[in-house]
Amino acid sequence: MLLKIVPCTTLCYLAAAALLVVLLFLLAVYFYAQYTLGICKSKNRMDGKTVIITGCTSGIGKETARDIAKRGARVIMACRNMETANKLKEELIKESGNNNIVTRKLDLSSLSSVRKFAQQINREENRLDVLIHNAGTAEVFRKKVTDDGLEMTMATNHYGPFLLTHLLIDLLKQSKPSRIIVVASGLYVLARLNLNNVNPTTTLPGYLYYVSKYANIVFTLELARRLEGSGVTANCLHPGLMSTGIWKNVPPPFSWVLNFALNTFCKTPEQGAQTTIHLAVSDDVNGFSGKYFMDCHEQVLSRGIKDPSKGKKFWELSESMVKLQSSDPKI
Ligand SMILES: NC(=O)c1ccc[n+]([C@@H]2O[C@H](COP(=O)([O-])OP(=O)(O)OC[C@H]3O[C@@H](n4cnc5c(N)ncnc54)[C@H](OP(=O)(O)O)[C@@H]3O)[C@@H](O)[C@H]2O)c1
Repeated sequence: MLLKIVPCTTLCYLAAAALLVVLLFLLAVYFYAQYTLGICKSKNRMDGKTVIITGCTSGIGKETARDIAKRGARVIMACRNMETANKLKEELIKESGNNNIVTRKLDLSSLSSVRKFAQQINREENRLDVLIHNAGTAEVFRKKVTDDGLEMTMATNHYGPFLLTHLLIDLLKQSKPSRIIVVASGLYVLARLNLNNVNPTTTLPGYLYYVSKYANIVFTLELARRLEGSGVTANCLHPGLMSTGIWKNVPPPFSWVLNFALNTFCKTPEQGAQTTIHLAVSDDVNGFSGKYFMDCHEQVLSRGIKDPSKGKKFWELSESMVKLQSSDPKI
Protein backbone atom coordinates (compact mmCIF):
# COMPACT_ATOMS: atom_id res chain seq x y z
CA MET A 1 0.00 0.00 0.00
CA LEU A 2 2.78 2.41 1.07
CA LEU A 3 4.76 1.42 -2.02
CA LYS A 4 1.85 2.47 -4.18
CA ILE A 5 1.82 5.97 -2.66
CA VAL A 6 5.58 6.52 -2.25
CA PRO A 7 8.00 5.14 -4.87
CA CYS A 8 10.54 2.56 -3.69
CA THR A 9 13.55 4.78 -4.43
CA THR A 10 12.11 7.58 -2.26
CA LEU A 11 11.68 5.10 0.60
CA CYS A 12 15.31 4.02 0.19
CA TYR A 13 16.46 7.65 0.32
CA LEU A 14 14.38 8.25 3.43
CA ALA A 15 15.79 5.15 5.15
CA ALA A 16 19.36 6.15 4.24
CA ALA A 17 18.75 9.69 5.52
CA ALA A 18 17.34 8.34 8.81
CA LEU A 19 20.36 6.06 9.22
CA LEU A 20 22.69 8.97 8.56
CA VAL A 21 20.95 11.10 11.17
CA VAL A 22 21.25 8.30 13.76
CA LEU A 23 24.94 7.80 12.94
CA LEU A 24 25.62 11.54 13.15
CA PHE A 25 23.84 11.63 16.50
CA LEU A 26 25.93 8.72 17.81
CA LEU A 27 29.12 10.35 16.52
CA ALA A 28 28.14 13.54 18.35
CA VAL A 29 27.60 11.44 21.52
CA TYR A 30 31.03 9.86 21.03
CA PHE A 31 32.86 13.16 20.57
CA TYR A 32 30.96 14.72 23.47
CA ALA A 33 31.88 11.75 25.71
CA GLN A 34 35.55 11.99 24.69
CA TYR A 35 35.67 15.78 24.98
CA THR A 36 34.08 15.92 28.45
CA LEU A 37 35.76 12.76 29.75
CA GLY A 38 36.77 13.26 33.38
CA ILE A 39 39.83 11.38 34.55
CA CYS A 40 40.77 11.15 38.22
CA LYS A 41 44.11 12.96 38.43
CA SER A 42 44.77 12.25 42.09
CA LYS A 43 47.84 10.14 42.80
CA ASN A 44 46.86 9.73 46.46
CA ARG A 45 47.70 6.39 48.03
CA MET A 46 45.20 4.76 50.38
CA ASP A 47 47.51 2.66 52.57
CA GLY A 48 45.93 2.07 55.97
CA LYS A 49 42.44 2.89 54.67
CA THR A 50 39.54 0.48 54.28
CA VAL A 51 37.17 0.70 51.35
CA ILE A 52 33.97 -1.30 50.77
CA ILE A 53 32.81 -1.56 47.16
CA THR A 54 29.45 -3.22 46.55
CA GLY A 55 28.84 -5.20 43.35
CA CYS A 56 32.40 -5.22 42.04
CA THR A 57 32.37 -8.47 40.09
CA SER A 58 31.90 -6.63 36.79
CA GLY A 59 31.63 -3.28 35.03
CA ILE A 60 32.32 -0.04 36.88
CA GLY A 61 32.73 -1.68 40.29
CA LYS A 62 35.41 -4.04 39.01
CA GLU A 63 37.43 -1.15 37.56
CA THR A 64 36.95 0.84 40.77
CA ALA A 65 38.25 -2.10 42.82
CA ARG A 66 41.22 -2.47 40.46
CA ASP A 67 42.24 1.16 40.94
CA ILE A 68 41.67 1.30 44.70
CA ALA A 69 43.61 -1.95 45.15
CA LYS A 70 46.61 -0.39 43.37
CA ARG A 71 46.49 2.51 45.82
CA GLY A 72 47.14 0.14 48.71
CA ALA A 73 43.79 0.25 50.55
CA ARG A 74 42.21 -2.73 52.26
CA VAL A 75 39.53 -3.53 49.69
CA ILE A 76 36.38 -5.31 50.83
CA MET A 77 34.62 -6.67 47.78
CA ALA A 78 30.94 -6.93 48.80
CA CYS A 79 29.45 -9.29 46.24
CA ARG A 80 26.66 -11.83 45.87
CA ASN A 81 28.46 -14.13 43.44
CA MET A 82 31.34 -15.45 45.55
CA GLU A 83 32.87 -17.64 42.88
CA THR A 84 33.35 -14.70 40.49
CA ALA A 85 34.38 -12.43 43.37
CA ASN A 86 37.08 -14.82 44.59
CA LYS A 87 38.49 -15.25 41.07
CA LEU A 88 38.62 -11.49 40.62
CA LYS A 89 40.23 -11.07 44.05
CA GLU A 90 43.11 -13.32 42.97
CA GLU A 91 43.46 -11.36 39.73
CA LEU A 92 43.55 -8.03 41.60
CA ILE A 93 46.08 -9.29 44.17
CA LYS A 94 48.36 -10.48 41.37
CA GLU A 95 48.00 -7.27 39.40
CA SER A 96 48.34 -4.80 42.27
CA GLY A 97 50.67 -6.65 44.61
CA ASN A 98 48.19 -5.71 47.36
CA ASN A 99 47.35 -8.76 49.50
CA ASN A 100 44.85 -6.85 51.58
CA ILE A 101 41.81 -7.63 49.43
CA VAL A 102 38.95 -9.71 50.79
CA THR A 103 35.57 -10.85 49.51
CA ARG A 104 32.43 -10.80 51.62
CA LYS A 105 28.99 -12.10 50.74
CA LEU A 106 26.34 -9.43 50.23
CA ASP A 107 23.01 -9.70 48.44
CA LEU A 108 21.52 -6.23 48.53
CA SER A 109 18.08 -7.49 47.56
CA SER A 110 17.84 -9.35 50.88
CA LEU A 111 17.49 -7.42 54.13
CA SER A 112 18.80 -10.38 56.13
CA SER A 113 21.89 -10.65 53.88
CA VAL A 114 22.54 -6.93 54.39
CA ARG A 115 22.28 -7.41 58.16
CA LYS A 116 24.59 -10.46 58.12
CA PHE A 117 27.16 -8.61 56.02
CA ALA A 118 27.09 -5.53 58.27
CA GLN A 119 27.41 -7.68 61.40
CA GLN A 120 30.51 -9.33 59.98
CA ILE A 121 32.04 -6.00 58.97
CA ASN A 122 31.34 -4.44 62.38
CA ARG A 123 32.81 -7.50 64.09
CA GLU A 124 35.94 -7.83 61.95
CA GLU A 125 36.90 -4.33 60.85
CA ASN A 126 38.25 -1.55 63.03
CA ARG A 127 37.76 1.18 60.45
CA LEU A 128 35.83 2.08 57.30
CA ASP A 129 37.04 5.07 55.34
CA VAL A 130 35.02 4.79 52.15
CA LEU A 131 31.73 3.04 51.46
CA ILE A 132 30.97 2.83 47.75
CA HIS A 133 27.39 1.94 46.86
CA ASN A 134 28.07 0.74 43.34
CA ALA A 135 25.95 -2.42 42.89
CA GLY A 136 22.88 -2.08 40.75
CA THR A 137 20.37 -4.07 38.79
CA ALA A 138 17.95 -3.30 35.98
CA GLU A 139 15.08 -5.34 34.64
CA VAL A 140 13.02 -4.43 31.60
CA PHE A 141 9.77 -6.42 31.69
CA ARG A 142 10.13 -9.12 34.38
CA LYS A 143 8.41 -8.03 37.58
CA LYS A 144 10.09 -9.48 40.66
CA VAL A 145 9.41 -9.20 44.37
CA THR A 146 12.02 -10.09 47.01
CA ASP A 147 11.48 -12.41 49.99
CA ASP A 148 10.95 -9.25 52.04
CA GLY A 149 8.05 -8.26 49.78
CA LEU A 150 9.97 -5.41 48.14
CA GLU A 151 10.06 -4.67 44.44
CA MET A 152 13.41 -6.13 43.22
CA THR A 153 14.95 -3.07 41.49
CA MET A 154 14.10 -0.71 44.34
CA ALA A 155 15.23 -3.30 46.91
CA THR A 156 18.64 -3.79 45.29
CA ASN A 157 19.34 -0.24 44.19
CA HIS A 158 17.86 1.72 47.09
CA TYR A 159 16.52 -0.20 50.10
CA GLY A 160 19.55 -2.51 50.51
CA PRO A 161 22.06 0.39 50.37
CA PHE A 162 19.79 2.48 52.65
CA LEU A 163 19.82 -0.23 55.36
CA LEU A 164 23.52 -0.95 54.87
CA THR A 165 24.42 2.72 55.37
CA HIS A 166 22.57 2.72 58.71
CA LEU A 167 24.25 -0.44 59.91
CA LEU A 168 27.76 0.80 59.03
CA ILE A 169 27.37 4.45 60.03
CA ASP A 170 29.02 4.09 63.46
CA LEU A 171 32.13 2.55 61.90
CA LEU A 172 32.25 5.33 59.31
CA LYS A 173 31.89 8.01 62.02
CA GLN A 174 34.62 6.33 64.07
CA SER A 175 36.96 6.54 61.03
CA LYS A 176 36.27 10.19 60.17
CA PRO A 177 36.90 11.91 57.87
CA SER A 178 35.14 9.23 55.84
CA ARG A 179 33.15 9.16 52.65
CA ILE A 180 30.00 7.56 51.28
CA ILE A 181 29.68 7.43 47.51
CA VAL A 182 26.51 6.49 45.66
CA VAL A 183 26.64 5.50 41.99
CA ALA A 184 23.39 6.97 40.66
CA SER A 185 22.64 7.88 37.04
CA GLY A 186 21.86 10.90 34.90
CA LEU A 187 18.87 8.89 33.67
CA TYR A 188 17.13 9.98 36.89
CA VAL A 189 15.69 12.80 34.76
CA LEU A 190 13.37 10.25 33.13
CA ALA A 191 11.67 9.43 36.45
CA ARG A 192 9.70 10.75 39.38
CA LEU A 193 9.48 9.34 42.88
CA ASN A 194 5.90 8.57 43.90
CA LEU A 195 5.86 8.97 47.67
CA ASN A 196 2.39 7.43 47.77
CA ASN A 197 3.78 4.18 46.39
CA VAL A 198 7.38 3.54 47.45
CA ASN A 199 7.08 -0.20 46.84
CA PRO A 200 5.80 -0.19 43.24
CA THR A 201 5.46 -3.96 42.69
CA THR A 202 3.10 -3.59 39.71
CA THR A 203 5.03 -0.89 37.80
CA LEU A 204 7.11 -1.76 34.71
CA PRO A 205 10.62 -2.58 36.05
CA GLY A 206 12.30 -0.85 33.07
CA TYR A 207 10.91 2.43 34.39
CA LEU A 208 11.72 1.54 38.01
CA TYR A 209 15.43 1.48 37.22
CA TYR A 210 15.21 5.23 36.59
CA VAL A 211 13.10 5.66 39.73
CA SER A 212 15.72 3.81 41.76
CA LYS A 213 18.44 6.10 40.41
CA TYR A 214 16.26 9.11 41.31
CA ALA A 215 15.93 7.54 44.78
CA ASN A 216 19.75 7.22 44.99
CA ILE A 217 20.09 10.97 44.60
CA VAL A 218 17.26 11.90 47.01
CA PHE A 219 18.82 9.50 49.53
CA THR A 220 22.32 11.01 49.13
CA LEU A 221 21.12 14.58 49.56
CA GLU A 222 19.10 13.74 52.69
CA LEU A 223 21.97 11.61 54.04
CA ALA A 224 24.37 14.53 53.60
CA ARG A 225 21.95 16.84 55.46
CA ARG A 226 21.68 14.35 58.33
CA LEU A 227 25.46 13.78 58.49
CA GLU A 228 26.40 17.46 58.57
CA GLY A 229 29.16 18.01 61.13
CA SER A 230 29.72 14.26 61.65
CA GLY A 231 32.92 14.03 59.58
CA VAL A 232 31.20 11.66 57.13
CA THR A 233 30.42 13.05 53.69
CA ALA A 234 27.95 11.67 51.12
CA ASN A 235 28.06 12.38 47.39
CA CYS A 236 26.56 10.76 44.33
CA LEU A 237 27.46 10.58 40.68
CA HIS A 238 26.59 9.74 37.12
CA PRO A 239 29.34 7.51 35.66
CA GLY A 240 28.36 8.12 32.02
CA LEU A 241 26.97 5.45 29.71
CA MET A 242 28.91 2.30 28.84
CA SER A 243 28.53 -1.34 27.99
CA THR A 244 28.31 -3.33 31.24
CA GLY A 245 26.14 -6.02 32.80
CA ILE A 246 23.51 -3.46 33.75
CA TRP A 247 22.00 -3.75 30.26
CA LYS A 248 21.97 -7.57 30.21
CA ASN A 249 18.19 -7.87 30.55
CA VAL A 250 17.45 -5.72 27.50
CA PRO A 251 15.97 -8.19 24.99
CA PRO A 252 17.01 -8.51 21.32
CA PRO A 253 16.74 -6.81 18.88
CA PHE A 254 17.00 -3.71 21.13
CA SER A 255 20.09 -5.17 22.81
CA TRP A 256 21.88 -5.50 19.43
CA VAL A 257 21.43 -1.82 18.67
CA LEU A 258 22.14 -0.79 22.26
CA ASN A 259 25.32 -2.87 22.54
CA PHE A 260 26.59 -1.60 19.21
CA ALA A 261 25.97 2.00 20.30
CA LEU A 262 27.44 1.50 23.79
CA ASN A 263 30.53 -0.36 22.56
CA THR A 264 31.24 2.00 19.69
CA PHE A 265 30.30 5.44 20.91
CA CYS A 266 30.27 5.47 24.71
CA LYS A 267 32.77 5.14 27.57
CA THR A 268 34.68 2.06 28.65
CA PRO A 269 34.00 0.74 32.20
CA GLU A 270 37.47 1.99 33.18
CA GLN A 271 36.52 5.49 32.06
CA GLY A 272 33.16 5.10 33.78
CA ALA A 273 34.87 4.36 37.10
CA GLN A 274 36.82 7.63 37.15
CA THR A 275 34.27 9.78 38.99
CA THR A 276 33.77 7.14 41.69
CA ILE A 277 37.55 6.92 42.14
CA HIS A 278 37.83 10.72 42.20
CA LEU A 279 35.22 10.93 44.97
CA ALA A 280 36.94 8.16 46.91
CA VAL A 281 40.52 9.42 46.81
CA SER A 282 40.88 13.03 45.71
CA ASP A 283 41.71 15.89 48.07
CA ASP A 284 39.74 18.16 45.74
CA VAL A 285 36.50 16.89 47.29
CA ASN A 286 37.57 17.14 50.94
CA GLY A 287 34.53 18.41 52.85
CA PHE A 288 32.21 18.22 49.82
CA SER A 289 28.88 16.66 50.76
CA GLY A 290 25.42 16.41 49.24
CA LYS A 291 26.78 16.97 45.73
CA TYR A 292 26.20 15.27 42.39
CA PHE A 293 29.19 14.66 40.13
CA MET A 294 29.84 13.65 36.55
CA ASP A 295 33.21 13.38 34.80
CA CYS A 296 34.93 14.32 38.09
CA HIS A 297 33.11 17.66 38.26
CA GLU A 298 30.15 18.81 40.28
CA GLN A 299 26.94 19.00 38.24
CA VAL A 300 23.67 20.80 38.69
CA LEU A 301 20.63 18.72 39.64
CA SER A 302 17.07 19.37 38.58
CA ARG A 303 15.27 21.52 41.15
CA GLY A 304 12.52 19.04 42.09
CA ILE A 305 14.94 16.36 43.25
CA LYS A 306 16.49 18.67 45.85
CA ASP A 307 13.29 19.34 47.82
CA PRO A 308 14.30 18.64 51.48
CA SER A 309 10.72 17.97 52.60
CA LYS A 310 10.41 15.17 50.02
CA GLY A 311 13.85 13.87 51.04
CA LYS A 312 12.77 13.70 54.69
CA LYS A 313 9.49 11.99 53.85
CA PHE A 314 11.22 9.44 51.59
CA TRP A 315 13.76 8.77 54.33
CA GLU A 316 11.05 8.04 56.88
CA LEU A 317 9.20 5.77 54.44
CA SER A 318 12.45 3.95 53.66
CA GLU A 319 13.07 3.39 57.37
CA SER A 320 9.80 1.52 57.62
CA MET A 321 10.33 -0.38 54.33
CA VAL A 322 13.64 -1.81 55.61
CA LYS A 323 12.08 -2.43 59.06
CA LEU A 324 14.70 -0.38 60.85
CA GLN A 325 14.79 -1.50 64.50
CA SER A 326 14.95 0.79 67.52
CA SER A 327 18.30 -0.88 68.37
CA ASP A 328 19.75 0.00 64.92
CA PRO A 329 21.85 3.14 64.56
CA LYS A 330 19.70 6.14 63.57
CA ILE A 331 20.98 8.66 61.07
N1 LIG B 1 26.63 1.09 32.69
C1 LIG B 1 26.06 2.26 32.59
O1 LIG B 1 25.89 2.78 31.48
C2 LIG B 1 25.57 2.97 33.83
C3 LIG B 1 25.06 4.26 33.68
C4 LIG B 1 24.62 4.94 34.81
C5 LIG B 1 24.72 4.33 36.07
N2 LIG B 1 25.20 3.06 36.18
C6 LIG B 1 25.27 2.47 37.53
O2 LIG B 1 26.56 1.95 37.75
C7 LIG B 1 26.51 0.97 38.78
C8 LIG B 1 27.36 -0.22 38.37
O3 LIG B 1 26.73 -0.89 37.30
P1 LIG B 1 27.50 -1.43 36.02
O4 LIG B 1 27.10 -0.56 34.90
O5 LIG B 1 28.92 -1.63 36.30
O6 LIG B 1 26.73 -2.82 35.80
P2 LIG B 1 27.17 -4.33 36.09
O7 LIG B 1 28.35 -4.70 35.30
O8 LIG B 1 25.91 -5.13 35.92
O9 LIG B 1 27.56 -4.32 37.62
C9 LIG B 1 26.60 -4.36 38.63
C10 LIG B 1 27.17 -5.08 39.83
O10 LIG B 1 26.15 -5.10 40.85
C11 LIG B 1 26.05 -6.42 41.33
N3 LIG B 1 24.73 -6.72 41.87
C12 LIG B 1 23.55 -6.78 41.20
N4 LIG B 1 22.58 -7.13 42.04
C13 LIG B 1 23.15 -7.31 43.26
C14 LIG B 1 22.67 -7.68 44.53
N5 LIG B 1 21.38 -8.00 44.73
N6 LIG B 1 23.53 -7.73 45.56
C15 LIG B 1 24.83 -7.45 45.39
N7 LIG B 1 25.36 -7.11 44.21
C16 LIG B 1 24.52 -7.04 43.16
C17 LIG B 1 26.37 -7.31 40.14
O11 LIG B 1 26.74 -8.58 40.61
P3 LIG B 1 26.36 -9.95 39.83
O12 LIG B 1 27.54 -10.22 39.00
O13 LIG B 1 26.17 -10.93 40.94
O14 LIG B 1 25.12 -9.69 39.04
C18 LIG B 1 27.53 -6.54 39.53
O15 LIG B 1 28.74 -6.84 40.18
C19 LIG B 1 25.02 0.65 38.96
O16 LIG B 1 24.57 1.26 40.15
C20 LIG B 1 24.34 1.28 37.75
O17 LIG B 1 23.04 1.66 38.03
C21 LIG B 1 25.64 2.36 35.08
